[in-house]
Amino acid sequence: MVTKEEKQIIEQILEYCETGKTSMTDEIMHNPVSNYNDPKKLNAEINTLFREFPIIVGHVSELSEPGQFITHNDTGVPILVTRNNNNELKAFMNVCRHRGAKVEGRECGKAKTFSCPYHSWTYDLNGKLRGMPQPFGFDNLDKSKYGLKELPVYEHFGMVWVRPSADAKRVDMAKWLAPMESQFDALNLDNHIIYKKWTLPRNMSWRLALEGFQENYHFCSAHEHTACSGYLDNQSVFTNHYPHVRHSVPLWNIGELKGKPQEEWTYRKYFMTQNYLFPCNFVQIMTDHVYVHSIMPTGPGTCVFKCMMLISEPANTDKAKQYWEKNYNVVKEVFNEDFEIGEAIQAGLSTNANDNFIFGKYECGLHWGQQAIDDALEGRLKAS
Ligand code: FES
Ligand SMILES: [Fe+2]
Repeated sequence: MVTKEEKQIIEQILEYCETGKTSMTDEIMHNPVSNYNDPKKLNAEINTLFREFPIIVGHVSELSEPGQFITHNDTGVPILVTRNNNNELKAFMNVCRHRGAKVEGRECGKAKTFSCPYHSWTYDLNGKLRGMPQPFGFDNLDKSKYGLKELPVYEHFGMVWVRPSADAKRVDMAKWLAPMESQFDALNLDNHIIYKKWTLPRNMSWRLALEGFQENYHFCSAHEHTACSGYLDNQSVFTNHYPHVRHSVPLWNIGELKGKPQEEWTYRKYFMTQNYLFPCNFVQIMTDHVYVHSIMPTGPGTCVFKCMMLISEPANTDKAKQYWEKNYNVVKEVFNEDFEIGEAIQAGLSTNANDNFIFGKYECGLHWGQQAIDDALEGRLKAS
């Protein structure tokens, strides 16, 4: 069984196979190099894209019980996410209300309360300030006003999302991600588990890291000895779910579907799907597992890549462990090939060899991603 959208994608790619064509935009696009190295532009991006829009910070399996928590530091806002005793997800700025220390320093764990390491002010799972040592020094302080600052947090598609802004306007996530729903509902990512989770700091603009996942024109040169042979060369279907993008990259054997009755079509077996979820999140669906990544700027020309590999059931046997480890190693190598090229691009930006980079007509994900970023920065796109 395939969804309506998947049927269209398969029909489209089979047609491309016949004609030798692929998804194209009408025009090529010129993107100013200053988008990758201008600190002023980066500031605007951080203040808008990384404050106003939901960012993936974890997977629901990390927060399945009351008191479980994760921390996340990579948006520039220290974040603490936990589950309270009513089973509600809560996110806070991980910033003590006394004098600003980080209340929880561990990456994950389980707690009944959070006690700041500096002077031991203690907060409960709802972020409420419960007490401090020697309270006579603060005897007229209204403790009810000094809880941890709360951030909007959501569980959606099995992921934990935070909008890292003190202004607590909530986002209607069902509406925000509506165009991706038919695809994600079928995946049951909330029942998956994390096989590996890793964080990679890189010396490249977050925008360059992003772009590595928004087109497949580069597969057969950058990944000549790794990913190239697995996929059709620069033929794929981009579906514009503005501001998100579904990019369906067919496996080499997609031709098997030609001539098969449509009732027998299956989608996942024949595609790697790179879903860009604005502004910096990707959910990359492989035939039997999933990578969820988000890319965040850490400064001009530097970024951090955070990735989770999700599998549908625990790897209990040696055979299963070997299988997933092999997949993990291959994908790490492929990602690394992209990042090494990205770091070399970053190093060459200051030469002024290019004023603009050129997006070809079949690099649709770059066009649409750039358009959505411009729309957000210029106030035309909001997370509603
Ligand atoms: S800064 Fe947290 S208790 Fe003083
Ligand atoms: Fe790549």
